[in-house]
Amino acid sequence: MSDSKLTAAILIVSDTASQNASTDRCGPALKEVFESDERGSFAVSEVKIVPDSTEAIQHFIKHNTDHADPVNLIITSGGTGFAVKDSTPEAVSPLIHKHATGLVHAMLSASLAITPFAMMARPIAGVRNSTLIITLPGSPKGAKENLEAILRQLPHACQQAAGADSRELHVGGVTQLEQDAGLRRFMTVKGMSVYNCEIYGHVHGSHKAPVPHTKSESHPQSNDPNAGPSRRYRSSPYPMLSVDEALQLIQEHTPSSKAVMRLVDEALVGSVLADDVKAVESVPAFRASIVDGYAIKLPSSGKSVKGIYPVAMISHAQAGDIASLEEGSIARITTGAPLPPGADAVVMVEDTVLKSNTTDGQEEKDVEILTDEIVRGENIREVGSDVQAGETIMKKGEGITAIGGELGLLASVGVRQVLVYHKPVVGVLSTGDEIVPHDRLGDLRLGEVRDTNRPTLLTAIQGSGFKAMDLGIASDKPGALEEALRTAFTHVDVLITTGGVSMGELDLLKPTIERALGGTIHFGRVNMKPGKPTTFASLVLKNPTSGARITKLIFSLPGNPASATVCYHLFVFPSLHTASGISPPGLPKVTVILESAVRCDKGRPEYHRVAVTAKRDGILYANSTGMQRSSRIGSFKSANALLCLPAGKGMLSKGDKVDALLMGQIVGYIDA
Ligand SMILES: *[C@@H]1O[C@H](CO)[C@@H](O)[C@H](O)[C@H]1NC(C)=O
Ligand SMILES: *[C@@H]1O[C@H](CO)[C@@H](O)[C@H](O)[C@H]1NC(C)=O
Ligand SMILES: *[C@@H]1O[C@H](CO)[C@@H](O)[C@H](O)[C@H]1NC(C)=O
Ligand SMILES: *[C@@H]1O[C@H](CO)[C@@H](O)[C@H](O)[C@H]1NC(C)=O
Repeated sequence: MSDSKLTAAILIVSDTASQNASTDRCGPALKEVFESDERGSFAVSEVKIVPDSTEAIQHFIKHNTDHADPVNLIITSGGTGFAVKDSTPEAVSPLIHKHATGLVHAMLSASLAITPFAMMARPIAGVRNSTLIITLPGSPKGAKENLEAILRQLPHACQQAAGADSRELHVGGVTQLEQDAGLRRFMTVKGMSVYNCEIYGHVHGSHKAPVPHTKSESHPQSNDPNAGPSRRYRSSPYPMLSVDEALQLIQEHTPSSKAVMRLVDEALVGSVLADDVKAVESVPAFRASIVDGYAIKLPSSGKSVKGIYPVAMISHAQAGDIASLEEGSIARITTGAPLPPGADAVVMVEDTVLKSNTTDGQEEKDVEILTDEIVRGENIREVGSDVQAGETIMKKGEGITAIGGELGLLASVGVRQVLVYHKPVVGVLSTGDEIVPHDRLGDLRLGEVRDTNRPTLLTAIQGSGFKAMDLGIASDKPGALEEALRTAFTHVDVLITTGGVSMGELDLLKPTIERALGGTIHFGRVNMKPGKPTTFASLVLKNPTSGARITKLIFSLPGNPASATVCYHLFVFPSLHTASGISPPGLPKVTVILESAVRCDKGRPEYHRVAVTAKRDGILYANSTGMQRSSRIGSFKSANALLCLPAGKGMLSKGDKVDALLMGQIVGYIDA
């Protein structure tokens, strides 16, 4: 062909844009794709907007194709969906002389890799006379992505359609064509070419979809939900990790804690300080008596003098001004009350005798002091003798416990707010069309299952001091799940889903995280019992207002209630700890003595639910809670610990010492 550029006409099909052209964002976006193409193969001859009208669309196409100097390419955008007015494919299809299903396929597979909504697209591509016509979706993003997916093949296709001599076109051989199209064949295996495809790469700096840099074996991906059950994996593509490896990845990907200012009140329990705290005030804030007695002003000798003294005033433990105490008189004072200015010491009431009453007989008039051994400062708590203002009373990293002491300390020194680590908000979402709310009235229909996981996990999260959010039940439809996840992340930092992580064909969770949301799955299988299909993923979202990038975590736990609960305590809990600055994270490990024999699993380490009690001897004993099947949440009744059983050890006997992870408090003790 000549040096002159190929011509492209763009047709925007939209009722809205045809009424107000300035609402159209597609035309400029598509024009930009052609203009920024480094090879500059196409010049845009026209951008036209028409309403969703068959006649208008057909008129535009014929006008550009049915004459001696046709355009090489017509791109339409819009009207390809399922809505009543969507009729672009119906308008274009009868005009096509040769259908180009390969281009349609290329666009669809590129879009499906981005969103399952691509299933709803009905693109058409083909040649009329000597012009190639392609219909793109109506969203600027979708249209642009589709066009970019095929752009590199278009010059060659258009040249052929325009009647170029195909022998002349193929003069450089297939290799030349591939190079023109941005494909580089880097190896040939048994007659098949393996391409390094740059279509999705970084082309001349403009940002395209990411290129994977690892081989697929080292970077497994979930099932493609559009592929159908016959093409699903028959074994999990994710490598089996040990529990320790899984915990390590969780720690690596849990975002570091962020600091927030919080009021000092009961809601602070469970928080960890993000900064040292200094006392605002001294304690006590005034000189206070530590006994009931009489404040005195010592003579220059520095010791009390026995004798009878008039009671000049009274100081109770209450706020207000007090007059100064003169030497030779005394002030009655109660425990904790402020000393009058001028007083040096307090004489205990036990070391005095009442000598006379006031005339009305209601008050003490004179009191005799019986000791001459009281020295300066005796029976007085000096200002700041407990805590000095400005002194560091708590350190960064220390927690506010439910015991109460830390909150009391903060309260006592006038600290009204502190910097603590933000505690993550945890959402709980059940998935599966078979799941019904646990409190739904009426009998279950065949196949229905009451939602046990959601109430169980919400309870566990709140019980461990974190804010839980009930996100309900999401259906097994791809769009519904994606929608539920997107909504969830506007509210929560961490999302727990249950169900949908096994190998079933309806298990859409992993594909939705990876393909629809662009998340990363860090692991999808753990060598443990129960909980093997536990999945952990993270994704980075942009805060729409601040633009800041926020990491959100997803724990996809198995649908079986006992498995989900074990995995919450084992995997989610430590992540919540780390996110809120609690260290060391996770359940405390103790050694317990078995009350009865337990069998270990041959292949996998097992987390066996037990009730741990402390006996009189102070030693911890563990009693199994019975049948451990992963669907049986009853194995959690009365359980306060998970016994860590090694794989393949056969039976462990009564009296053996085993590690256990404590989930709850050890309640009371049973007589040995
Ligand atoms: C056309 O659309 C633009 C951008 O949405 C808007 O600012 C303008 O008011 C619209 N004009 C009319 C006549 O509706
Ligand atoms: C284009 O195709 C139409 C319909 O098949 C035909 O009537 C017309 O003559 C063609 N025009 C040219 C210039 O080839
Ligand atoms: C003071 O009054 C109390 C009761 O009003 C009385 O019991 C006491 O004996 C009186 N003491 C003196 C020293 O008058
Ligand atoms: C251990 O469990 C068994 C059966 O569940 C029960 O009969 C027994 O009393 C329990 N022992 C202790 C020490 O709790």
